[in-house]
Amino acid sequence: MLEPFAKPFYITQPLLPDIDEFNEMLKVIWASKQLSNNGNMVKQLERNLSDFLNADYLSVFSNGTVALQLACKVLRLSGEVITTPFTFAATAHSLVWNNIKPVFCDIEEDSYNINPDLIEPLITENTTAIMPVHVFGNPCKVEIIQQIADKYGLKVLYDAAHAFGVKVDGKPISDFGDISMFSFHATKIYHTIEGGALTFKDPHFKERADSLRNFGIRSLENVMEPGTNGKLNEIQAAVGILLLKQVEEEIKARQEITNLYRQILNDIPGITTSKDMDAISHNYSYFVIKVNKDEYGHSRDELFDKLMEYNIIARKYFYPLCSNFPCYMNLPSSSKLTLPIANKVADMVLSLPLHGRMQKNDVEKICAIIKAIHED
Ligand SMILES: Cc1ncc(COP(=O)(O)O)c(C=O)c1O
Repeated sequence: MLEPFAKPFYITQPLLPDIDEFNEMLKVIWASKQLSNNGNMVKQLERNLSDFLNADYLSVFSNGTVALQLACKVLRLSGEVITTPFTFAATAHSLVWNNIKPVFCDIEEDSYNINPDLIEPLITENTTAIMPVHVFGNPCKVEIIQQIADKYGLKVLYDAAHAFGVKVDGKPISDFGDISMFSFHATKIYHTIEGGALTFKDPHFKERADSLRNFGIRSLENVMEPGTNGKLNEIQAAVGILLLKQVEEEIKARQEITNLYRQILNDIPGITTSKDMDAISHNYSYFVIKVNKDEYGHSRDELFDKLMEYNIIARKYFYPLCSNFPCYMNLPSSSKLTLPIANKVADMVLSLPLHGRMQKNDVEKICAIIKAIHED
């Protein structure tokens, strides 16, 4: 048997800013005596992110979930919103927190994204929007989704939590839809420890989002609507400013790790690795395999458990499906009969460790262990 890793090898490791540069930023914040409430660091971060992402307008928030909840308010969504079950809980939850009913649509087997061919039959007189997710940073079929939205007068709110820096035909991912949400959680390729952003094409949307993240306050004596506290603070904004300088290098490093994984794992029967999509600049934020039990000799769950024995902490993103959570399983759209691909894929996928500081021999060892488990 191959030796397990001496310490847990986690699914990812956060990118960290240079500690001396961070100290310099802290000195600036200390001197300003302002820690929150839209200070200079937050304003600087919003400018830098708008440039980096090529976004018309952008606002940062305390986390991606709050950003998504507020995006629903900004777009005045109500009734029903069509989304995917193959995503993190926050996607559907942000709808329910706005008294909106999630309507789950099945996914494509190759991209894991919402299948646009199945959206139209789910549209009713109560539908106000489509909320697709660029799962694992792979862009949805953005043009087709927009055509459907235009035909029925629906808004499109993208959960782009995983898609930081992704481009489609050279266009930034935030060019598509009415609003896109990016998560800046520490597990994401780019982060502010906790945090998130919305990108907008309409300046009025930014104005309203900025007010909603600050309790709905428009001016000192004018509270327009019941907002919440969704503000990012100055210290986290400083982390974001510094990490923006490192993210391109991180993407490059992850691309190399991804290619090495693919090269080795493609020779193991029953393991399918993801492929780069045509005309897409990927961000390599996740490395996902599909396990075919008959060919590999073990199910995804068995492989997950065995990897644990070797101290390799993989993740079953996204199992269970949102449609199978106790809080959503009774929705009419949660039936396994109407979500066959999502239910099948959720039992097969496994995300393997990936971050820019991984060494070639880490990847080789993880792959050798996956091979040994197959041959066992
Ligand atoms: C697809 C998706 N949507 C929404 C979120 C919520 O983002 P946050 O953790 O920043 O609240 C996450 C992530 O963590 C996510 O993966």
